[in-house]
Amino acid sequence: MIVVTGATGNVGGNVVRQLLDAGERVRAVTRSPDTARLPRGVEVVRGDLAEPSTLTGAFDGAERIFLFPVPSTVDSVAELAKASGVRRVVALSSSAAADQDDNPISVMHRTVERALENSGLDWTFVRPGGFATNTLSWAPSVRAESVVRAPYPDAAANLIHEADIAAVATTALLEDGHVGARYELTGPHSITQAEQVQAIAAALGRDVRFEEQTPEQARRTMVEYLPAPIADILLSYWAGSVGVPAPVLPTVEQVTGRPARSYPEWAVDHAEDFGAPS
Ligand SMILES: NC(=O)c1ccc[n+]([C@@H]2O[C@H](COP(=O)([O-])OP(=O)(O)OC[C@H]3O[C@@H](n4cnc5c(N)ncnc54)[C@H](OP(=O)(O)O)[C@@H]3O)[C@@H](O)[C@H]2O)c1
Repeated sequence: MIVVTGATGNVGGNVVRQLLDAGERVRAVTRSPDTARLPRGVEVVRGDLAEPSTLTGAFDGAERIFLFPVPSTVDSVAELAKASGVRRVVALSSSAAADQDDNPISVMHRTVERALENSGLDWTFVRPGGFATNTLSWAPSVRAESVVRAPYPDAAANLIHEADIAAVATTALLEDGHVGARYELTGPHSITQAEQVQAIAAALGRDVRFEEQTPEQARRTMVEYLPAPIADILLSYWAGSVGVPAPVLPTVEQVTGRPARSYPEWAVDHAEDFGAPS
């Protein structure tokens, strides 16, 4: 039995499916079992990582868990997991955990990693860079108007498919030899924002226009769905990525034995999100 937290999310949902495909018994933890759409065969339990008291019993009978990062309670969650008999935790972290600066994304993931390092559990950290799913924020305007409004069309990124993050996590859950690893992950190519929009257009089989925003215009939209400090981090990251190819790491293939999926493949996998008929 392997317990997956964050199981309704982009990464956790793929971890659930990949563990099932490998023939494992899976228990999924969600705050909303009634609306969680989890695959048949998964044991679904209610629990909120932000309120460890709701997790009593959630880890019973499991030796391994996939942990979604919630820094405020990670100490208690790790303690509960250990007391329940868990030995190994594979945690979703971030490449930002490797940065020693004090931006909130780095601090949050370093907090989670430190707690797990001190927990007495065997740990593996999965540290992806930017997710391809971040570009789902473009889906409403692509569906409605075939347009992407964003700043910095020439900003490059090494976006990673959520299924590849999950594949690394699943490998670390199932195979020995990954304890103590901090796996930094990227997608297989550096691709600009304008090229990402072209890949979405190709997946849809129709034109999608890139309408360049000023950073100020973009910030006004972003703060409607993101905390302002995170919007500012993203904007300054994009500004610094214009014309600078993003570094590409071989980790996905090294750990899983399969090449990482490209952004154009991701766009095909998500064509329905951008309005392709189902
Ligand atoms: N986006 C990026 O570019 C990026 C880059 C590096 C690392 N990351 C890391 O990846 C995470 C996002 O992963 P994802 O896309 O798989 O997540 P996601 O799709 O946003 O959802 C993860 C699931 O976790 C559960 N959850 C979320 N917050 C929770 C909380 N405070 N307490 C309890 N459960 C909670 C929710 O499930 P229920 O509602 O079913 O409970 C949610 O569906 C980020 O938070 C960050 O740590 C992201």
